[in-house]
Amino acid sequence: MDNKVYIFDTTLRDGEQVPGCRLNTQEKLIIAEALESLGVDIIEAGFPVSSPGDFESVKQIARLVKEPIVCGLTRAVQKDIDVAVEALKDAKRPRIHTGLGTSDQHVFTKLRITRDEVIERGVAAVKYAKKYIEDIEFYAEDAGRTDNEFLAQVCEAVIAAGATVVNIPDTTGYCIPEEYGKKIKYLKENVKNIDKAIISTHCHNDLGMATANSITGVQNGARQIECTINGIGERAGNTSLEEVVMALRKHKWLDYTTGINSKQIFPISQLVSKTMRMPVQPNKAIVGSNAFAHSSGIHQDGFIKNKENYEIIDPEEVGVEKSSIVLTARSGRAALYYRVSALGIEISKQELDVIYPKFLELADQSQVVEDNDLKSLLNDTLAKTVNL
Ligand code: KIV
Ligand code: ZN
Repeated sequence: MDNKVYIFDTTLRDGEQVPGCRLNTQEKLIIAEALESLGVDIIEAGFPVSSPGDFESVKQIARLVKEPIVCGLTRAVQKDIDVAVEALKDAKRPRIHTGLGTSDQHVFTKLRITRDEVIERGVAAVKYAKKYIEDIEFYAEDAGRTDNEFLAQVCEAVIAAGATVVNIPDTTGYCIPEEYGKKIKYLKENVKNIDKAIISTHCHNDLGMATANSITGVQNGARQIECTINGIGERAGNTSLEEVVMALRKHKWLDYTTGINSKQIFPISQLVSKTMRMPVQPNKAIVGSNAFAHSSGIHQDGFIKNKENYEIIDPEEVGVEKSSIVLTARSGRAALYYRVSALGIEISKQELDVIYPKFLELADQSQVVEDNDLKSLLNDTLAKTVNL
């Protein structure tokens, strides 16, 4: 089986649905260009029928982007598909992403139809879209809570109708990894024509499982991951692109590859955060401001001896300039010496013994001791011995 995992970015569709994150066409074009340089395989550019603005953005992104597939979302409704086909008409590699709910929860209390009608509508939508565009992805909304046997029937029917990708969304972020992995495995083993389509993961993060579920999905046969930059998206968000890409990269023994240029990860994270007015939490994996900052004495000492003691990723690999040693009241002598040396100041062991207790007093009063505080401390304490 091919070990390439396709990265399907939905920052501009699922990510942009978040209140406060709406973007204008110009902003979307800038992000689409950055996604292309990042090396994503598919850009979900929007939901064209949802508004004239979204239609226009999808249309312009379709014209701009050269390499990645440009995808437009639709419901399993002819009108949506017509509008998406029109928006995608200039795309070099267009894809329609259509589908409907498959869980009993969605079928009976949202769509209020029968299971047979779900299959009929799904098949009809795929066949209709296929008249205009070759590459059709089908989503089984709320697949995470869908009975596996029924999900397999739906997948088999839509693949027979021409779907090239079957997306198995954990729409409500309900699954845990073992459960989601088993679902993908079940489809691999029970959908007769599954070899004619790529299985895609699309995991939401309501229980904080989105990254783990996506990776487990891949280990069980999925070859496309749907994700967003910084994990933005509905409610608790989507699978975060940087997390899945780096998890696959760091576990070489899994032997999966992606086309992502990892050095672009931090720059695009900053771009998306700024453009969408959505701050990145400091402890966010890979791209948070603390992701490469070391602040406790034991960690700092270990990091200074050999950075691999406390870092599994070289910051430069994801486009972060360097790691940092943050001076706090939990820092030890090694960290203090390291930061003083970084200022270009040489001090002896005796001098370090003199300033360390003073440094602790200062650190107890402030959150972080910055370079300027450190310089004043050295000036006041060691003025006689150190020429600052
Ligand atoms: O979460 C979801 O189910 C979706 C689909 C529209 C793909 O975003
Ligand atoms: Zn979603």
